[in-house]
Amino acid sequence: MTDAHAPLDIRRLTYADLPQLIAIERRAFPRPWSMAMFVLELSKQGGVCLAALRGEEMLGYLVCSRYDTVWHIMNIAVDPDHRRVGIATELLAELFRRVDGAGARFTLEVRESNLPAITLYERYGFRAAGRRRRYYQDNGEDAVVMWRTQSTLVGRVDDVPNASPA
Ligand code: COA
Repeated sequence: MTDAHAPLDIRRLTYADLPQLIAIERRAFPRPWSMAMFVLELSKQGGVCLAALRGEEMLGYLVCSRYDTVWHIMNIAVDPDHRRVGIATELLAELFRRVDGAGARFTLEVRESNLPAITLYERYGFRAAGRRRRYYQDNGEDAVVMWRTQSTLVGRVDDVPNASPA
């Protein structure tokens, strides 16, 4: 049971967090990542993996990897019982605090039907700049490719590689 009065703590994700994380992952996604996929992400040098906790209870997490000069948000999820209270917002804010040097660029793929996530990302400066046809194998859904760059923050996509209408 969460102590609703405990402050939200955002800290680095560790291997010891994975059992709690997997429980959220399985409730959050139709095709959840396996434990091995999270272990692989945590083992990579230079990524940013964050956990949001109240007391001992994990409420959400974010996994972001760096490929060359671009940060890829690989996974973000919040426990269904704790949504719409700003937890994903806090995770993104901490990510940007940690890596938002001049010129930092972020990208991600999101199911085109995932309006909660698309709304969240747009609110924090991401813009759709491409599409991957039938990217999700479970239902053949397209992925929308979103970027957050200096340009997307002012509503343009001119510094996004290979930008095309989404
Ligand atoms: N519908 C519409 N807008 C939504 C929304 C929803 N269900 N959820 C979030 N948003 C937008 C709103 O603008 C919201 O601000 P508001 O509450 O003041 O209106 C803003 O995002 C911030 O929301 P926040 O409370 O920080 O988000 P959250 O902690 O509820 O987490 C997700 C958002 C997407 C991470 C969460 O819904 C989730 O875990 N979904 C399942 C996993 C998933 O799809 N991850 C993304 C994969 S690409």
